[in-house]
Amino acid sequence: MTADDPLPDFVPFDLLATMVALVEPDGQCLLANATLENTMGLSRRALQRGNLLDWLAEPKRMRETLRAVAVNEVATGRFDAHLRRTPLGHNDLLPVHVIVNQLDHRSDRVLVEMIEIEQQTRLDREERTHGLAQANKELVRNLAHEIKNPLGGIRGAAQLLAMEIDSPELSEYTNVIIHEADRLQSLVDRLLAPHRRPHVVSDVNIHEICERVRSLVLAEFPRGLAVERDYDTSIPEFRGDREQLIQAVLNIVHNATHALADRMVEGDARIVLRTRITRQATIGKQRFRLALELHVEDNGPGVAESIRDRIFQPLVSGREGGSGLGLTLAQTFVQQHLGTIECDSVPGRTVFTIILPLP
Ligand SMILES: Nc1ncnc2c1ncn2[C@@H]1O[C@H](COP(=O)(O)OP(=O)(O)OP(=O)(O)O)[C@@H](O)[C@H]1O
Ligand SMILES: [Mg+2]
Repeated sequence: MTADDPLPDFVPFDLLATMVALVEPDGQCLLANATLENTMGLSRRALQRGNLLDWLAEPKRMRETLRAVAVNEVATGRFDAHLRRTPLGHNDLLPVHVIVNQLDHRSDRVLVEMIEIEQQTRLDREERTHGLAQANKELVRNLAHEIKNPLGGIRGAAQLLAMEIDSPELSEYTNVIIHEADRLQSLVDRLLAPHRRPHVVSDVNIHEICERVRSLVLAEFPRGLAVERDYDTSIPEFRGDREQLIQAVLNIVHNATHALADRMVEGDARIVLRTRITRQATIGKQRFRLALELHVEDNGPGVAESIRDRIFQPLVSGREGGSGLGLTLAQTFVQQHLGTIECDSVPGRTVFTIILPLP
């Protein structure tokens, strides 16, 4: 490849959440992706006339690495640096992790990838939790399957036994067995639920979902609870499984009602359903041009500190009688729509945010 060779197609790089630039060995920028453009707050044309070395607080390491990679001394280089967001300003320094790579063997053009260090740690953490969550779900699901069959046998045997027994004292025992078997059965059914029903896809309106959930909850708690709505009605419809999304939102709102039990007695319990559009949302490692956010906010005491970073895991519950499945199911359903759920909680204000990509 010579300097006159056509530049590679850079469009796919615009979909990445990390900053990417193609540069000459002297740092002269040939191509910049959309994320770099956004982060630097400069137009692509301005970037592509500039020099990467001018954008770094300490360009020495970059200069050396570019040279070493270009002449094939090393295949790749990694280091941390500070990006100056406004090329001539000195105040706004963004810590980034830089990865420098050769584009291919024949050219001396160099591909530079930069990732915000904060974002890097967040992505690492998200990836780890996601992996862990998948493994957990798999485990729970297999376990549920294993429990299901013997459970039917136990219940049946207890029923047969009950028919043979005359003593009311002894039938008390068989009743306990039957009752507990039923309870386990319904737990197991809930554990297996997300994998059972087929995905039914249609046009979905997020506000229709909110309204459904709102009326269900108000019917259940007619006194002491206000469910306010704050909708951005410009949010377009999208393709999805309506029932699943209703279930996801309902599980989150139900948790809020549990947390608000005391406030309902006082009469000032409040849940807000708020919808917003966001641009350039990053969900996991994927970047979406448009996404919707549904915030479910409550004025309850907040998520207990001791379980805060585990609430989406199956069987983690902070309340008496809770099975710890509501949020796991909600998350599974939302993830099946390529979305995610986040939680931000302080005493007096807890917000669960469902983020869903829009077409
Ligand atoms: N809005 C909220 N305010 C305070 N704590 C919350 C809130 N939402 C969830 N939690 C905490 O997270 C825990 C897990 O919630 P999750 O819905 O997964 O299970 P659960 O409500 O305990 O049981 P289930 O939903 O299966 O009946 C809850 O037990 C509660 O402690
Ligand atoms: Mg719940």
